[in-house]
Amino acid sequence: MDNKIMNVSIIILAAGESKRMHSTTPKVLYPLAGVPILERLLRTAKMLEASEIYVVYNERGNQVCESLEDYDVIWVKQPRLLGTGHAVMQTLDQLSDDHRALVLYGDVPLVSHETLKQLIAQTPEDTIGWLTAYTTDPFGLGRILRDKYGEPHGIVEEKDATDAQKKISEINTGICLIPVKYLRSWLPRLENKNAQKEYYLTDIFAIARQNGVKINTVLSQIETDFLSVNDHIQLAYLERVLQKQIAEQYMREGLRLLDPNRFDIRGYLTFAQDVTIDINVVIEGEVSIGSNCYIGPNVYLRDVIIGNDVEIRANSVIEDTVISRGCVIGPFARIRPGTRLKPNVKIGNFVEVKKSEIGEGTKASHLGYIGDATIGKYVNIGAGTVTCNYDGVNKYQTVIDDEAFIGSNATLVPPVRIQKESYIGAGSTITEDTPEKKLTIARSRQVAVENWIAPKQKVKKEQECE
Ligand code: UD1
Ligand code: CA
Repeated sequence: MDNKIMNVSIIILAAGESKRMHSTTPKVLYPLAGVPILERLLRTAKMLEASEIYVVYNERGNQVCESLEDYDVIWVKQPRLLGTGHAVMQTLDQLSDDHRALVLYGDVPLVSHETLKQLIAQTPEDTIGWLTAYTTDPFGLGRILRDKYGEPHGIVEEKDATDAQKKISEINTGICLIPVKYLRSWLPRLENKNAQKEYYLTDIFAIARQNGVKINTVLSQIETDFLSVNDHIQLAYLERVLQKQIAEQYMREGLRLLDPNRFDIRGYLTFAQDVTIDINVVIEGEVSIGSNCYIGPNVYLRDVIIGNDVEIRANSVIEDTVISRGCVIGPFARIRPGTRLKPNVKIGNFVEVKKSEIGEGTKASHLGYIGDATIGKYVNIGAGTVTCNYDGVNKYQTVIDDEAFIGSNATLVPPVRIQKESYIGAGSTITEDTPEKKLTIARSRQVAVENWIAPKQKVKKEQECE
């Protein structure tokens, strides 16, 4: 392990008020591509293999600790939100003097591992490293002040900046690397004489300069390194930037995405060769797609395993399901959790399937509800067939054996077993097991009533008689 990284303690500041989000949810818990903001940052921090990771949180942030309790971090409470300098100060008791503190901002979540490694590598032990960036839209960010020789000597916040300073396009990303011994002597010296009445960590910059300690500014070349989330507009912007990055990575790995701008991944996707994903597909949880598959437009997939040669047509919603090779699903199919589809099953439009196993080659092509059912091979389920699995209290199982044929609009009332090669007449209400290879019809017979007179004709005839 790299020694330099060994003596670095990471401090993540996550105790903000999230005022501009207008929400009771702490900002750092909003998801970006399905992963909470703070968790994204923690994943990057973990990659650095630093000695410890401290996360500064506030009163309202108990939810933050709870939701990320699996992470091996040291939680440090900031009792009052008095600024970024005050936030770092809360960790001082626990930091070793021979360490350097790498400060990350909880609301700057996409900083790359490579950039952080570069910052550490380019900052000699006894100096300060500060990550800056140039941007065409510096509004709201701290600006880097440089003297006429180009030496940096301070940071001024937007709210404290003069008009001339506001024109500076080199900004403070917030990310810095400072020897703990300097923090210990300088943080208590911070003052809050500024527009926000806060103790700014950024003031350390000028103090270092006054004390003759060198500041190495490292320039980030990657926009995502310094994008911050302060409001919903920025959150949505970051989401799109991240989605595009992930989409392009998949495309480099061979995925055919018809439009990377209209693709949303909020979990994990694995795919084999020759997979095409049409527009507006949303992927959540863990999804794996076999080779030679097509996912149509507006499809939602959550925790789905898809075999080879599968076609999922437009507007289908599929959750917690295993789809074997050769299946054709949709358009407009809804497949709910606990479903297992064997090879070459066809689930057509407006068919809902829940917690059911459907055998090889079986088709339910149009309209219907299949819930809590076990269906064999090569069964044909006619349009409008419904399993009445729920009596208001309990759920019951429907079993349909191989090669049965269920006529349209059949109502199957479980517990019931449709035996092998049973043939169910259209419109039947089946309440008892049906025998093999027989036609079962359970509906009233059709009758044509003799001497029947339509009501209109009846009235006319009566009037004629009057
Ligand atoms: C901060 C920087 C600014 C920089 C910008 C980069 C300061 C004074 N300003 O401004 O120079 O360009 O970030 O995005 O540092 N936090 C705490 N406790 C507090 C206050 C803040 O933990 O008392 C946390 C927040 O949760 C947030 C981070 O520190 O994650 C930054 O705070 P924020 O208020 O968003 O600072 P900015 O005004 O964005
Ligand atoms: Ca911020």
